[in-house]
Amino acid sequence: MSKVLELGYLGFNASNMDEWRKFATECIGLEVASDTTDDCLFLRMDNHHHRIAIHKSDEDDMSYMGWRVATEQDLNAMAQKFDDAGIEYRMASVEEIRERRVLGLIKLHDPSGIPTEIFWSPQVDVMKPFHPSRPMYGKFLTGSQGLGHVLVRADDNEATYKFYELLGLTGSVEYRIALPNGAVAQPIFMTCNDRQHVIAFGIPGMEKNINHLMLEYDNIYDLGISHDAVRNNNIDVALQLGMHANDKLYTFYCASPSKWLLELGFGEDYKPLAQEHYVGDIFGHGIEKKGYGMDLPL
Ligand SMILES: [Fe+2]
Repeated sequence: MSKVLELGYLGFNASNMDEWRKFATECIGLEVASDTTDDCLFLRMDNHHHRIAIHKSDEDDMSYMGWRVATEQDLNAMAQKFDDAGIEYRMASVEEIRERRVLGLIKLHDPSGIPTEIFWSPQVDVMKPFHPSRPMYGKFLTGSQGLGHVLVRADDNEATYKFYELLGLTGSVEYRIALPNGAVAQPIFMTCNDRQHVIAFGIPGMEKNINHLMLEYDNIYDLGISHDAVRNNNIDVALQLGMHANDKLYTFYCASPSKWLLELGFGEDYKPLAQEHYVGDIFGHGIEKKGYGMDLPL
């Protein structure tokens, strides 16, 4: 049964490429790939050619998500699943495949219209080990957990759950958060590998495709140094340092140059017996700067 193994790469449109390069390198520590151009900033966090591509644009949003399957056979089996489910898709052109540095690619949209790609065989540049743009004690945690996690817009939670379930993800509601307006937010978290969740959705009122991208360090010093860099550059912090209830990540949320959020974290460590849900976090995550869609009383 074909299923995706990881969130392998992400693409973003951005209107301020210079600001992005500075933020990605100085604040986060990502490496700029040598074949980056003025129109496309390829960012590395391990020995893959890139994990994040920032495309020059008038818009500022996530422009595609890339989900990896193991083999070409699995890619074709996934296409068959889309056929059986009546989901529209197309096989990418040779040019599109080359642009993503993969060997095969399906293009489609998730139920909210977010461009979604299924690929196999990413280009891994073993001759160029990851070299952070600023000194780091450790590295980014990828490997069997993919690049991190995203919280995305979902216009219809049930349809979105079914779509990602078809891709091979599992999960459920993990928080019930009472909102100041009397409503209750019930975000849904799903995974396809060792990471506690690789995608989440179910936050009402989102306009952009993405609320936040989480990248995880394997050394807490690097999280602290990033936090200092964000503070020193007067970048908005939406949620202060704190620890989530579900993945036990120690994180903070800051504004990217595109005004969606980067969640930087360390130390995910929780595998419950079965699904649980929570009504708040362990500590911290106080709301500091409102207006980024994470004004949630965690
Ligand atoms: Fe998150």
